[in-house]
Amino acid sequence: MSDSPLFQPFDHPKLKTRNRIVMAPMTRKFSPGGVPGANVADYYRRRGEGGVGLILSEGVGIRRNGSRPDKAVPNFFGDDALAGWQAVVDAVKPTGACFAPQFWHVGARPDDTTRNLPDAPIDSPSGMPWPGKTVAEPMTEAAIADTIAAYAEAAANAKALGCNAVEIHGAHGYLIDQFLWDATNQRDDGWNGPTLKERARFAAEVVKAMRAATGPDFAILMRISQDKSPDGSIRLANTPAELEQLVTTLADAGVDMLHCSGARFSRREFEGSDLSFAGWVKKLSGLATIAVGTVGLDVPAKSKLFDSFGPGELDEVERRLDAGEFDLVAVGRALLADPDWANKVRDGRIDELIGFDAKYMTKLH
Ligand SMILES: Cc1cc2nc3c(=O)[nH]c(=O)nc-3n(C[C@H](O)[C@H](O)[C@H](O)COP(=O)(O)O)c2cc1C
Repeated sequence: MSDSPLFQPFDHPKLKTRNRIVMAPMTRKFSPGGVPGANVADYYRRRGEGGVGLILSEGVGIRRNGSRPDKAVPNFFGDDALAGWQAVVDAVKPTGACFAPQFWHVGARPDDTTRNLPDAPIDSPSGMPWPGKTVAEPMTEAAIADTIAAYAEAAANAKALGCNAVEIHGAHGYLIDQFLWDATNQRDDGWNGPTLKERARFAAEVVKAMRAATGPDFAILMRISQDKSPDGSIRLANTPAELEQLVTTLADAGVDMLHCSGARFSRREFEGSDLSFAGWVKKLSGLATIAVGTVGLDVPAKSKLFDSFGPGELDEVERRLDAGEFDLVAVGRALLADPDWANKVRDGRIDELIGFDAKYMTKLH
């Protein structure tokens, strides 16, 4: 496998990784009070020792009330949480893996009881987690400005800790995606409009503020998705032209790479072409992209979140990497089950891989 495109170094001007394997961001809820401890550092260190090229952290809260949905989801602000992340960075660095935190703000949520700070105002464009459901007032201009500043602070903190990059969670129906989607962005001001370009303004301002806080050479990634949990049938961009508006707006704002989230890395995005979501985004934006979805899952995954997928098809991942359709590939559940997944695949030790099972969702091993 060492000749495999999966194990060729990635040489981006702002981010160099030893191979093309990315650990997908996965919420774990093992950080009481928002502070990641030694168990969290060890968990990431094991994936670094296991050969991953770039580790993306679980979604982490930023300095806004209600940015994270649970008290055991870590934060990326405050002395205690930042000391915890420093220990993570220090644990991962010697393994040769790169590390980037994923900044998460959930926005409006359908179930108010999931919020960690019950008295905090909910940040969202129109108070709507979902079409037809309103749970809060729209964000004020001051709240929008402070939220953008909180993203920028988190990015500056990540750079100061020695992280190799940062990822903005702009996918899956959370705050940034709530601005992008016309059904949850019902504003009648400059943060909305009939086009995706107009609705991407909030995302673009977040990127610009993070860029200003970190300088020109620091890698800023954003994760985007077409669909939103819990409904996988919704599409944000119905045509390549719509998708182009979104991704060129983000590229113009200064994002370096786009992480294209979807259930299946090879799913055909638009009729008339076999290109995947990550393939289209790369073609339309000119940026490097990360694909994701069921890589390394050789059996149908039995979990509450994801049901009935086909085989992992590593050869198909390699074929698409080789063709330059996308640049990196993120692996989620297979890496939850087996921290050594990358090294085993590199060495052809396929029979030694630990298969995914839903029990790995609830433990940190
Ligand atoms: C337990 C779990 C937690 C997740 N948490 C996040 C998250 O915090 N941020 C995010 O962008 N995606 C999250 N995801 C989605 C994964 O990053 C990934 O896109 C998804 O699992 C598909 O990849 P896979 O088929 O390789 O598992 C999570 C997935 C799982 C299984």
